[in-house]
Amino acid sequence: MNRFNDKVVVVTGGCRGIGLSIVEKFANEGAKVYALDFKLPNEGEQFLTDNSLSDRVKTAQVDVSNLDSVTAAMEYVIKDAGRIDVLINNAGITRDNLLMRMSEAEFDSVINTNLKGSFLCIKAVTRQMMGQRSGRIINIGSIVGTIGNAGQTNYSSSKAGMIGLTKSAAKELASRNILVNLIAPGFVITAMTHQLTEEQKNFFLNNIPLKRGATPDDIANVAIFLAGEESSYITGQVIHVDGGLYM
Ligand SMILES: NC(=O)c1ccc[n+]([C@@H]2O[C@H](COP(=O)([O-])OP(=O)(O)OC[C@H]3O[C@@H](n4cnc5c(N)ncnc54)[C@H](O)[C@@H]3O)[C@@H](O)[C@H]2O)c1
Repeated sequence: MNRFNDKVVVVTGGCRGIGLSIVEKFANEGAKVYALDFKLPNEGEQFLTDNSLSDRVKTAQVDVSNLDSVTAAMEYVIKDAGRIDVLINNAGITRDNLLMRMSEAEFDSVINTNLKGSFLCIKAVTRQMMGQRSGRIINIGSIVGTIGNAGQTNYSSSKAGMIGLTKSAAKELASRNILVNLIAPGFVITAMTHQLTEEQKNFFLNNIPLKRGATPDDIANVAIFLAGEESSYITGQVIHVDGGLYM
């Protein structure tokens, strides 16, 4: 199917993990996709798992926590593609530590990338989407933004903040037909979760009713839904995609 023919989709943190899966799903549906990332693949290195999509995917460097970098990256996309239909705020980091040991730098870097980064990217595409009188913004949060997690005061605060950001932006932008939602994954098997201890992984797996971690595609499928016509009456929502872990 080519449900997103001629649509322009921007995915932050799009060069690996969940972001890469989202990039490939949209490209596979005919979209022109911009994978913006802090760390781009090396010259000549293949990052797409399906190289037949390479005509439809462009990469550009961005640090989402930096205003000038975000402004430059979004200006590049708008100049290159002429519009932005979908923004997916997926770039995210963890710097886990117990509260007593967490440094100010560990707290700030996670808030600045996950929460402020999403705000800066939304701000940078809003004028364009308002002019188009249409747009979809999908934030990638986390289950821990709702339930919290020991060792992740920085990360869970950033993801809880993204829920407020989603709802406020949804209310502010609804009159311009810009829909803003948040996907809250639970445990997804990516490089980010490889950092977890065996004990942490077992805790998740034992408590997930569907008894498996998510694949990046499980998350990307919901992003496709939230960017498509079928979800045109959904805004300001937190969609938990976690095998039933939070309920
Ligand atoms: N993996 C999980 O279990 C899980 C669970 C819940 C939520 N999430 C969220 O999903 C998103 C993607 O996670 P993932 O597991 O694919 O992570 P990942 O670490 O595999 O990929 C994250 C990507 O973001 C990029 N990035 C980091 N900082 C950036 C910055 N300042 N500017 C631009 N790009 C930056 C990285 O280079 C990387 O390509 C994150 O927001 C994460 O918090 C992941």
